[in-house]
Amino acid sequence: MKPVKVGICGLGTVGGGTFNVLERNAAEIARRAGRGIEVAQIAARRANPKCDTGDTPITADIFEVANNPEIDIVVELIGGYTLARELVLKALENGKHVVTANKALIAVHGNEIFAKAREKGVIVAFEASVAGGIPIIKAIREGLAGNQINWLAGIINGTGNFILTEMREKGRTFEDVLQEAQELGYAEADPTFDVEGIDAAHKLTILASIAFGVPLQFDKAYTEGISQLTTADVNYAEALGYRIKHLGVARSTASGIELRVHPTLIPADRLIANVNGVMNAVMVNGDAVGSTLYYGAGAGMEPTASAVVADLVDVARALTTDPNNRVPHLAFQPDSLSAHPILAIESCESAYYLRIQAKDHPGVLAQVATILSERGINIESIMQKEAEVQDGLVPVILVTHRVVEQRINDAIAALEALADVVGSVVRIRVEQLN
Ligand code: HSE
Repeated sequence: MKPVKVGICGLGTVGGGTFNVLERNAAEIARRAGRGIEVAQIAARRANPKCDTGDTPITADIFEVANNPEIDIVVELIGGYTLARELVLKALENGKHVVTANKALIAVHGNEIFAKAREKGVIVAFEASVAGGIPIIKAIREGLAGNQINWLAGIINGTGNFILTEMREKGRTFEDVLQEAQELGYAEADPTFDVEGIDAAHKLTILASIAFGVPLQFDKAYTEGISQLTTADVNYAEALGYRIKHLGVARSTASGIELRVHPTLIPADRLIANVNGVMNAVMVNGDAVGSTLYYGAGAGMEPTASAVVADLVDVARALTTDPNNRVPHLAFQPDSLSAHPILAIESCESAYYLRIQAKDHPGVLAQVATILSERGINIESIMQKEAEVQDGLVPVILVTHRVVEQRINDAIAALEALADVVGSVVRIRVEQLN
C-alpha cells in the first residue's frame, strides 16, 4: 500500500523528535499502521541540530505544506493560537487530516476546529497536547468509555512540577530551575504560562471536555500559579503530612463542573504526591472503574513525539473509514454534548489549608475557631508554632474539612479584620483524592 504522506510544520523540540522517531521506528510503525508513514515536506524557519532531515524538502512557508496536494496529514507543531489556527483551518479546508500538540489551540479554538473537521470529514488528533507522552486522551476517550467520570486531577505541567521538586529537594531558586527547564525545552515560549497555570488550564479544559462531554470552555477555568508559594508553607504542609503540587482538578457535581488549577495540598502517601521532576500524572475516577492513575513524561522531545506519532498511526489506520463512525473528537457524539455549566470558583468545594499570623495573646485561637464555626467550617487539624514566635507574632496553621469556597472567602475576610491577626491569611486548597 502507498505510504501516508506527512507534512511537519515546526521543527523545534517536538518537531525534531517526531522526525527522528518516524525515521528510527519506520519499520515498526509501518507494521502497526498497515502502511508506511513518510515525511514528504517540512516547514521550518531554521534547522534543528538534533534532527538530520537529509533530503526531505524544506520550506519556510507553513501554508505551502497545507496546500501541498501530495500531503495527507499536516502535523502542526508551531504552537501559539493565531497562526496555528489559520494553518489548521487551511489544512482542514483542503481536506487534510491534522495532528497537533498544541493545547492552547485546542483549548481556545477547538470547538471551531472540530466543527470544520466534521464538515470536511477529516480527523484532528491531539494526544500530544495533554501530558506529553502519557496516552491520557486515548485512555479517557476510549479506555474509560463505559464510565461516568466523577473527577480527574492531574499534575499536567512538567515545568512547574520540575520547579517545585527542585526547590523542595535541593533548595534551588525558582529562577535557576526555570532557566534549566527552558534550556531543556520543557517550558513554554512564555514561561508564565507554565508557572501561572495557564498551560495546565489549557490541558485541563481538554481533559474535562472529553471526560464530561461538554464543549471546550477555557475562558471559564480558574487559574492560580505557583509563584507565590513560600518555603514556609511547603514545610508546614510536610509537617501536617501533605505535599504541595500544582494540580488541575475537574469534578462533575450536581450543580456544574469544577474546572480549576491551583497549588494543592495532597496527602504525602498518595502516589500522585510522589510524582516528581518533569513527570506528569493524571488520576481519573470513574463510577465503574474507581480510581485510575496514568504516569509518564509530560514534556520533552521524544516523549511528546511518541504521542504525535501514535496519532499519525491512528489517522493512517482510519483513513479509509467512514467519518461518521470514527471516535468523536471530544469522546461524545458532537450532537450529544451537554450544557452542564462550568462553576465559578466561589461555588467549588474543597478543603483548605490556612496560615494566619496572629498576635501571641490569650483568646486568639478561640476567635479563629468562632469565625470558622459561625460559617459552618469544620476544622480537621490545627497547629500553632509557639517556637516560631517572631515580633510577638505566631503562625497558626489549620486544615478545614470540605466547604464551598465562598464560605472560606467570608471567613478569611473576617479573620483578616481581627485586631489580633496581622497581614493576609494564606489559603491553599487541599484535596484528599480518595
Ligand atoms: N510547558 C509544558 C510543560 C510542555 O512543561 O508541561 C508540555 O506541554
